[in-house]
Amino acid sequence: MKFDVVTIFPAMFERPLAEGVLGRAVSRGTLDVTVHDLRDFTTDRHRVVDDMPYGGGPGMVLKPDPIFRALDAIEAEHGSPAAVIMTSPQGTRFTQAEAQRLSRLPHIVLLCGRYEGVDERVRERVSEEVSIGDYVLSGGELPALVIIDAVSRHVPGVVGDERSVAEDSFSRGLLDFPQYTRPATLAVRRTGSANRDVVDAETLTVPEVLLSGNHAEIRRWRKMQAISRTLERRPDLLAGAALDEEERHILRVLQDGGHHGRD
Ligand code: ADE
Repeated sequence: MKFDVVTIFPAMFERPLAEGVLGRAVSRGTLDVTVHDLRDFTTDRHRVVDDMPYGGGPGMVLKPDPIFRALDAIEAEHGSPAAVIMTSPQGTRFTQAEAQRLSRLPHIVLLCGRYEGVDERVRERVSEEVSIGDYVLSGGELPALVIIDAVSRHVPGVVGDERSVAEDSFSRGLLDFPQYTRPATLAVRRTGSANRDVVDAETLTVPEVLLSGNHAEIRRWRKMQAISRTLERRPDLLAGAALDEEERHILRVLQDGGHHGRD
């Protein structure tokens, strides 16, 4: 899959695209990300990319002409992209479902906006405007990286174990169950205590069921945990969750919680 990024801060992409899952995918060639410096598409001596808004007001607006030139250059080299996405707080909300949809496109251009604004005429060439959440960032670079990361996880070969993508909490519509690893017992300072005095120590353990080797029990416990967490923290997700028969039963029991045999 190919991404072309247009930004005024190309250096912001260097480390994130070189580390971890994305770094591996890029070095294997599963992902091809080209970062273009918008200033390279200016024609003036000072390489100016923004200007004052017509009509007055605070802040600067990204000039349209360098952006059009950048898009023309990308198209001349790689043909018409499947999507030209502009990051902006005015965009439609980016979700796991959107990440999945975009992962099926062969070539995406990401245009990093600035929070003050981008000349409206640029929208002529933009196929989608995407927001990563209801908060304002200074620019579209972090949103572009968020989009590249979330989309790439769905591209075959990017994540080593494809099960982890299918089981990712938002793919299923449930939050994750709790995970533990060794050691099975852990001596820690009691929360809030100032010193490591033995008196203040406590032992944190791992739920017995996970050490039991009983895989049916473990599966059921995990389902129960995932559902009760979702019910507690993100009940809004449950409406769209793909639950199996056992999970629907667990949910009913949890929702009824404590009301049985009372009245
Ligand atoms: N640019 C500034 N804030 C943003 C946001 N929340 N999402 C996408 N682009 C942005």
